[in-house]
Amino acid sequence: MTHFLDIHKTDPVALRGIIDNAQAMKTARAGRTRGATDDEQPLAGHMVALIFEKPSTRTRVSFDVGVRQMGGETMLLSGADMQLGHGETIADTARVLSRYVDLIMIRTFDESVLLDMAEYADVPVINGLTDRTHPCQIMADVMTYEEHRGPIAGKKVVWCGDGNNVCASFLHAAGQFGFDLTFTGPMQLDPEGEFVGLARKSGSRIVIERDPVKAVEGADLVVADTWVSMHDSQSTKERRHNMLRPYQVNQELMRHAKADALFMHCLPAHREDEATSAVMDGPHSVIFDEAENRLHAQKAVMRWCLGV
Ligand code: CP
Ligand code: NVA
Repeated sequence: MTHFLDIHKTDPVALRGIIDNAQAMKTARAGRTRGATDDEQPLAGHMVALIFEKPSTRTRVSFDVGVRQMGGETMLLSGADMQLGHGETIADTARVLSRYVDLIMIRTFDESVLLDMAEYADVPVINGLTDRTHPCQIMADVMTYEEHRGPIAGKKVVWCGDGNNVCASFLHAAGQFGFDLTFTGPMQLDPEGEFVGLARKSGSRIVIERDPVKAVEGADLVVADTWVSMHDSQSTKERRHNMLRPYQVNQELMRHAKADALFMHCLPAHREDEATSAVMDGPHSVIFDEAENRLHAQKAVMRWCLGV
């Protein structure tokens, strides 16, 4: 079964193939009406279940539209409305869904839900974000970087803020795509040591630098994300904001990156917190290309999973 669970669990050759295919599909659609189907219909006759246990705008819409462009159909399911939310096990849910659908995408809280789904499903499972990782986002981000600046291998990426689930997938991508990553944020919010270790083992230079100005020196790409993720308790908001305020990405900080550095944010953003509007809407920013590329990258992920 070809699941897409995480970037570090996916073969680098397959990852490269997915990015290339995503770009080819994007190019093939140039000039088309947004809702139009693709010439190729590799998902014709396929039903895709999209399960959301957390809110979503981009993941939900881009998967839904992507499946339809490729000729397939989708079923949007909210965890709370399923028996899953009333005590049915993940294993039983996975076995039942496998009798109806060809592919499952799930956004959930605890990673164990995703892993159980993958273990017991007879169809491919895609990680649409867990508390721990967000691989589809970083596939779109790598695609976006390369679209603007060429190969990401050997480049310096700087993550500013919370060492969260999106940061984790960036670390995985550093190892697999061969770029370097500097994390700058408070010690309490460092990324998981296991993920830092994995990226280093793959040969990437991973640096932890508490001073944001030093961190962004020479950066090719600066990345920010929300200071309070969906899995974080709102009661921690003030404390997190106080710790993270020095790591805001603003024009002054961007001045220390390379002149042609890109700025990314997976969105949704809290403008004037983790990043200012001047940066988000400024010349370095590619945030809406990133959002668009979720569509193309995930289409390629689904084709890879299904072998179509
Ligand atoms: N970036 C991202 O995954 O956005 P959504 O939460 O809107 O899906
Ligand atoms: N870190 C954020 C990403 C949202 C797409 C969260 O998990 O809420």
